[in-house]
Amino acid sequence: MTAQTNHLFAPLQLRALSLPNRIAVSSMCEYSSTDGFADDWHFVHLGSRAIGGAGLVMTEATAVSPEGRISPGDLGLWKNEHIAQLARITAFLHRHGSFAGIQLAHAGRKASMPLAWLEQTAVPLEDGGWQPVAPSAIPYGDGYAAPLALDRAGMDKIVADFIAAAHRAITAGFDIAEVHAAHGYLLHQFLSPLSNQRTDEYGGSFENRVRFPLEVIRAVRAAWPQHLPVFVRISATDWVEGGWNLDESVAFAKLLKNSAVDLIDVSTGGLHPAQKIPVGPGYQVPHAETIRREANIPTGAVGMITRPVQADQIIREGQADLVLLAREFLRDPYWPLHAAVELKQEISWPVQYARSAAGRVPARQPVTTPSA
Ligand SMILES: Cc1cc2nc3c(=O)[nH]c(=O)nc-3n(C[C@H](O)[C@H](O)[C@H](O)COP(=O)(O)O)c2cc1C
Repeated sequence: MTAQTNHLFAPLQLRALSLPNRIAVSSMCEYSSTDGFADDWHFVHLGSRAIGGAGLVMTEATAVSPEGRISPGDLGLWKNEHIAQLARITAFLHRHGSFAGIQLAHAGRKASMPLAWLEQTAVPLEDGGWQPVAPSAIPYGDGYAAPLALDRAGMDKIVADFIAAAHRAITAGFDIAEVHAAHGYLLHQFLSPLSNQRTDEYGGSFENRVRFPLEVIRAVRAAWPQHLPVFVRISATDWVEGGWNLDESVAFAKLLKNSAVDLIDVSTGGLHPAQKIPVGPGYQVPHAETIRREANIPTGAVGMITRPVQADQIIREGQADLVLLAREFLRDPYWPLHAAVELKQEISWPVQYARSAAGRVPARQPVTTPSA
């Protein structure tokens, strides 16, 4: 844990990286890629949040293989040609004072769906869809394709895909890799007994269900530079009776800590259509707090964190080390600048905008990825 004074605008040291503040842009699929490529939408969307002062800007779920995409519009990093556009984005983020995080993802049985704003029925193979894979051949729900249960060769390929994508992300200039093991996507499907009904050493007991996610996460950790952090996003509970729960999340977080993971990004849900989520301001913060306390590992809190005082309190009271905002950043890309005014906190502005903050703030400095 950090010995720094805890508040929203205090730096956060993770390995050699010092995030300038505790505010991160949470991963948000934009459904705006063709063949996995980032384009000007991603450049402007992510870049404007760096101008807005986020210490960390996470990409959306970035597919490690074409069949790991949720939809045909997902961002991807399964070929070297994807690197250049992402490198342009990370360079811009760095120039404007933000570190860059990539969320590496595989959708598993929730793959081959249309763009989010279209009717949610699986895209058939003849219309360009693809065959989803999963721990067990159990579909997510109505409208979703039946997945094929993965065999060992399929699992080996997925581990290799995560490693290759991590290497490409390093080349593209990312500072942080986050493995997506939440929201009912492939790795979460292995964790939860509701979606994992395997009878081999990857299903059944807790030790068996965490085995494949740990293989992937440890492989990404080994591929990622030693001096840079790795995050894992989990769903701390399925919010369904008999599903993955907070106790298992704490036990998993302890294993992740022992696997040299630096921060658990704590979300919930997404695994089962029967979930009942008590949505409200900061509704997932207690999960981040419990995991932080019980597993003694830094956490990120996410979910309906919208007000500066609320976010500051989460950090001050030690409920989490980082706050991640998603929809609030869509409403206000400059949220950190506005939060600083409200909290009477000095924060640097981009030099280009300094006249609008005249006399109040220092000009922004670029950040550089620390070397080993
Ligand atoms: C448009 C949109 C796309 C999202 N895509 C992702 C994603 O790619 N990966 C992920 O882990 N979460 C994703 N989420 C979930 C958010 O990261 C976040 O956990 C959730 O929206 C709750 O935070 P909020 O209340 O601040 O919006 C998405 C949310 C939205 C609104």
